Amino acid sequence: MDVTKILGRRHRIMKAVVTKKYGPPEVARIQEIENPVPKENEILIKVLSTPVTSGDARIRGLNVPFGFKFITKLMFGFKGPKNPVLGVVFSGIVEQVGEKVEAFGKGDAVFGSKENMGCHAEYLVIKESGAIVHKPEKLSHQEAASIPFGALTSLKYLRDFGKIKKGQKILINGASGALGVYGVQLAKYFGAEVTGVCGPSNVELVKSLEADHVIDYKSTDFTENEESYDIIYDTVGKLDFSKCKDSLNKNGLFLLAAAGLKEYRQVLSTSFSGSKKVVAGVALFKKEDLKVVVELIEQDHIRPVIGKTFEFSDIVEAYKYVDGGHKVASAVLTV
Ligand SMILES: NC(=O)c1ccc[n+]([C@@H]2O[C@H](COP(=O)([O-])OP(=O)(O)OC[C@H]3O[C@@H](n4cnc5c(N)ncnc54)[C@H](OP(=O)(O)O)[C@@H]3O)[C@@H](O)[C@H]2O)c1
Repeated sequence: MDVTKILGRRHRIMKAVVTKKYGPPEVARIQEIENPVPKENEILIKVLSTPVTSGDARIRGLNVPFGFKFITKLMFGFKGPKNPVLGVVFSGIVEQVGEKVEAFGKGDAVFGSKENMGCHAEYLVIKESGAIVHKPEKLSHQEAASIPFGALTSLKYLRDFGKIKKGQKILINGASGALGVYGVQLAKYFGAEVTGVCGPSNVELVKSLEADHVIDYKSTDFTENEESYDIIYDTVGKLDFSKCKDSLNKNGLFLLAAAGLKEYRQVLSTSFSGSKKVVAGVALFKKEDLKVVVELIEQDHIRPVIGKTFEFSDIVEAYKYVDGGHKVASAVLTV
């Protein structure tokens, strides 16, 4: 049965990863659904590459920090994701633009982030005002897709939450993950002295990102040496503030990208007392910040890091890799 003929030309059919209920990687299925149609201020994009991020895996598996299950269901849907097509980052080609769109035209190579998801599909629509920019020519679509999730989050954490300054000492835990690889490069750009913490197999990668020092967490516990830092940025939610406190300088910040109820209580309590603060929050992905990231790519301050690539049809394998907790930088799907 040719569904396109029945539905008419405006309602073409595309392939997408559809997740109708929360659960293990196998709940993500490739299905045929209707193409999105752009409104007058929207852009239709043919997706060429899209990463499977730790954020997608969290929502798919409802694997959220302690105390956040109810609020996540409230936001994303009680029985399963309200928007069953997950994926927050894309790189691709503009297929069609709404009549009020000015900065983009058919055939433009673009990349960016769609916070209300829908990137794990052959096509997506995004508002012109959303986090979409032209792709730097020197990046492939796979490379471009590997950048926004980690770079935009770490930019928010380091520049806005951490107010990082030249000459400060920062330790980045999880330096080989998506947030970590861009966190290291951004912290170097901001002029900090960077210590990256990762497992033994990723030490060379983190050194190659020009971290000043690299600690293998399997053989060395940094909290037991004499070093102290102005900022400890835990990208992977593996550190405990009470254990790290002595490794923070006076007025030091403990930045947490993955925080549960206990950590948010620490955010509150340290905001009232003590010189060392715990900081956590949500990084919203904005066009202005994506433009900053593009400038840093153009100036060679940020380079893409892809851990592994997968075909679109291997979505379950990709999710298993991300769920494993040892993803290197980004896992990118070729659509
Ligand atoms: N707050 C926000 O707005 C926001 C935004 C985006 C993401 N997040 C959260 O940030 C977290 C990190 O995201 P991500 O995509 O960067 O994660 P990721 O890429 O999945 O992180 C995997 C990395 O973590 C490292 N790792 C695992 N155990 C470790 C340990 N005990 N110590 C140090 N490193 C360890 C692994 O290195 P080895 O293989 O060497 O162990 C691996 O390279 C997620 O929980 C995500 O939900 C928050």
